[in-house]
Amino acid sequence: MRLISARLIVSLIVGITLVSLAFSFYEVQIEKSNLRRDLERRAEVLGESLAGNVERSLEKSTTRDLQRIVERFGNREHLLGIAVYDQQGARLAVTPGLGQRLVSTPLALDQAVIGNHPAGNFVYLGPESAHVYTLPLHRDDQIIGVLAIVHDASYIGAQSRHVWRQTFQRVLVQVFLISLITLLIVRWSLTGPIGRAAQWMRALRMGGVSGRQSPPDCDFLRPLAHEVATFAQSLNQARFAAENEARLRDAGESLWTAERLAVHLQARLGDSRLFVVSNREPYIHSRQGKTLEVMVPASGLVTALEPVLRACDGMWVAHGSGDADRETVDSIDHVAVPPDDPRYTLRRVWLDKDEEEGYYYGFANEGLWPLCHIAHTRPLFRTSDWEHYQQVNRKFADAVLEEMKDTERPVILVQDYHFALLPRLIKEKRPDARVAIFWHIPWPNPEAFGICPWQRELLDGLLGADLIGFHVQSHCTNFLQTVDRALESRIDWERFSVQRRDHDTMVQPFPISVDFTDAESPASTPVCDSMERPLLLKELGVDAVFLGVGVDRVDYTKGILERFLAVERLLEKYPLYRDRFTFVQIGAPSRTHIKRYHDLLNDVEAEAERINWRFQRNKWKPIVFLKGQYSHREIHRYYRAADLCLVTSLHDGMNLVAKEFLAARHDEQGALVLSRFTGAARELRDALLVNPYDLSQTAEAIRFALEMPPEERRARMQRMRRTVRENNVYRWAGNLIAELCEVRVEAARPAAAAAHISGIQTNSPAA
Ligand code: F6P
Repeated sequence: MRLISARLIVSLIVGITLVSLAFSFYEVQIEKSNLRRDLERRAEVLGESLAGNVERSLEKSTTRDLQRIVERFGNREHLLGIAVYDQQGARLAVTPGLGQRLVSTPLALDQAVIGNHPAGNFVYLGPESAHVYTLPLHRDDQIIGVLAIVHDASYIGAQSRHVWRQTFQRVLVQVFLISLITLLIVRWSLTGPIGRAAQWMRALRMGGVSGRQSPPDCDFLRPLAHEVATFAQSLNQARFAAENEARLRDAGESLWTAERLAVHLQARLGDSRLFVVSNREPYIHSRQGKTLEVMVPASGLVTALEPVLRACDGMWVAHGSGDADRETVDSIDHVAVPPDDPRYTLRRVWLDKDEEEGYYYGFANEGLWPLCHIAHTRPLFRTSDWEHYQQVNRKFADAVLEEMKDTERPVILVQDYHFALLPRLIKEKRPDARVAIFWHIPWPNPEAFGICPWQRELLDGLLGADLIGFHVQSHCTNFLQTVDRALESRIDWERFSVQRRDHDTMVQPFPISVDFTDAESPASTPVCDSMERPLLLKELGVDAVFLGVGVDRVDYTKGILERFLAVERLLEKYPLYRDRFTFVQIGAPSRTHIKRYHDLLNDVEAEAERINWRFQRNKWKPIVFLKGQYSHREIHRYYRAADLCLVTSLHDGMNLVAKEFLAARHDEQGALVLSRFTGAARELRDALLVNPYDLSQTAEAIRFALEMPPEERRARMQRMRRTVRENNVYRWAGNLIAELCEVRVEAARPAAAAAHISGIQTNSPAA
């Protein structure tokens, strides 16, 4: 840094000096020529005014008159003197004092006589500079003599020297001031921030600072800091993974990690590639004024699949739903994600408003969603929605087929109820592809599913897959029973598979999970847990002793209203918890374009308000409803600070909030109150299982969670954490893909693509 300061200062000094000298030189030249011109003009004026008198005196030939004239005019400013010569150059009269200086005849005299016009020169009279102006004197057009006017010109040189002296003084002051200012700027704006940034980077490298924290007051270093933070985060994660691997090796455990999944996928996929298809994309770009923002949506599916894609550099095909999504893709609709640290490719598929309305809001979320969730909201089946659903499935099939055209034996994981028709559409064109579909929501019993007018088409589309995954065994059983009732097919209840049109489809449970290691990594715990609760309550402006938390999309299947009512029941029955227990509900508005969801959001707000109004006192209130999209980081703060987490879904395929909460509690504290109607309840037997419709039971579970002996709380938490740790999302993906890769598919892709995908087959069973 010293070398840079010295170089900067030397360059500034040289620069300033050169510029000042150039300007001063120019200034001096201008000044000199002005003074000279002024002197010449003065000599001319004096010459013209004297010429008449001198000519007359010459006529009379009186030397005394001449002498008197020259003496009279000889004492003007800067005038050294006047002399009169005859036409031969003999001096006739001269101002006293000038005689000794004018030892020789001035050159200008000859010029005036020869040219017969005034002439002027700057000459040296001894050491002094002078200006000699000569004017021919006439009688009847004949030159009878020459008048010489001599001015002192040495003051012009003195003036130039004065300007140069001033220049040097100015340069000196400027150089001093600029060097001082440069040094201060370097110190304040460069050396200081860089020093602090270096300290911050060192802390990052050692894992002492959270990677997302920016270095203080270093605006110009922010882009660099951002890169370094991402780099350090990857480094910490790698370090953490390596330590974890070593620990596991040491303990002889065979836990699934991102690294293990990556190796597993490489071995299974070989030259092939993994393609994931879902409606919801993992990164949504949107415009906030002039800035481009990236948002990770509140979706269990995204939470689960993101680490899988990161581990294997696959491709994720999804609906581009952000208002700035088109700005961020390349010419073939690809964008590398995560934006900060690209690991895989996201291919966006565009839908117009009608398609989105009919396929997503209509058929998927007003039809299939309430059909599969037993939550007492009536499904709506509109023909136009069904047509859009088919159209969008075909659109996605085309996109996937295009993306995998150069991949032999591609592996495709289709996600969820948005794409029931996709497996068959892909398989028809690419029999060499291995296709699985994972159904993230429950599958109801055959009677419930049977009310769907297009159940056969949906089942036929699904049975194009080689493997269909559900979260739990009972959903697999429900599915096979539905197929049995609705389609002509052979069901193997031993292997849990369906044979239809000479194609076998396996149906198996794969309980989805979370990335447990990520929640445990040091970067995710910036504040000590005991500090977190008072900090959060202070931020919320609430005084409380106990804290409960719930995190959901605002969806009628999540039982949010039932949860609030259970809190109310607790406060009614156990007044001891008034002033002491606060429940924070983080609720991400979801699908609000659908009236049922829009109304629900209002109902949730109104219910929270009603209960608060009833019990609220001073700075305490029973319910805080935080409406909005919260980042994983913010949610984790609540998970870690809470005494309990409430998951009261009326029906849920799995529910990853329950597992995220457990993964976040590395302090082994906190209790989980969990609806028995979630898939997670099958695995998490140490949760306090409740029927969410039974408000008193939930209220009792909350009380028990708060009053449970600490040893029991810890023991339950330890066991549940072990379950989630062992059955993490890497195991889920590893098992699913391993099973899929076991499937025997056609040796090679067909020479020519199959004929046009011709709508959906509707062959009905004997039943
Ligand atoms: O449970 C099914 C699911 O796809 C989840 O993965 C996710 O939480 C939710 O639905 C997403 O809803 P949406 O994409 O409609 O916001």
